[in-house]
Amino acid sequence: MTANWTSPGDFMSRKRVAVLISGRGSNMAALIEAAKDKNYPAEIALVVSNVAAAGGLQTARSAGVATAVVNHKKSGKSPKLDRAAFERALQAVLQHHRIDIVCLAGFMRLLSADFVGHWQDRMLNIHPALLPAFKGLDTHKRALEAGVMQHGATVHFVVPEMDSGPIVAQEAIEVRPDDTEVTLAARVLAVEHRIYPLALKLLAEGRVHIERGRCIINTVGSSVGPLIVPGNGGAE
Ligand code: GAR
Repeated sequence: MTANWTSPGDFMSRKRVAVLISGRGSNMAALIEAAKDKNYPAEIALVVSNVAAAGGLQTARSAGVATAVVNHKKSGKSPKLDRAAFERALQAVLQHHRIDIVCLAGFMRLLSADFVGHWQDRMLNIHPALLPAFKGLDTHKRALEAGVMQHGATVHFVVPEMDSGPIVAQEAIEVRPDDTEVTLAARVLAVEHRIYPLALKLLAEGRVHIERGRCIINTVGSSVGPLIVPGNGGAE
């Protein structure tokens, strides 16, 4: 199972990426920033939110990125959308913008198996923990309660099961004795902002292959180092 573009450096044009957000959009902003580099293999063509008041929408507009709101709740004259109608509307906007890759970045709405299947191997998510540990919410609180010594962030392909799917990039940080949820969250967020642009770069360059549910990553000739990329297929 591989993406359509399979050889490193094989990309003829930059992949068109949509970032889906529900809130402040700091990971989205990190992706937009990375994509400002003309050598980055993806462009952020669209930001979509299911929340009209999401702060990230304004950040995206200020950066000149097209935005859309697909709101499942009743608002003004718009009726409440059920899950299928919501996903039809989302799919329509993604198609309209000719999107190749979808990046979930703090998008707090579960997507159906049908929708996920449509974007198989082309949809990434970032999660604020070292998966498979601490799936779900309140990851920093639970990490502190569990007394783990390492915590971190993971970028993975989206599959129907929440916070599962082949891992593309992961970076660990140490948990300090005096950490609070706030201090831990801040250091993990800095990791997220580093690894999400790198993971998207690897995918957009055709360096990520999925075999038996695991990512095999070809980093030969890539600036992405082995420390943050498990399954590093090349660099010694
Ligand atoms: C990020 O920490 C992201 O990892 C998390 O929400 C935050 C969004 O922040 N996502 C999840 O918990 C999804 N399971 P941002 O809007 O500033 O990018």
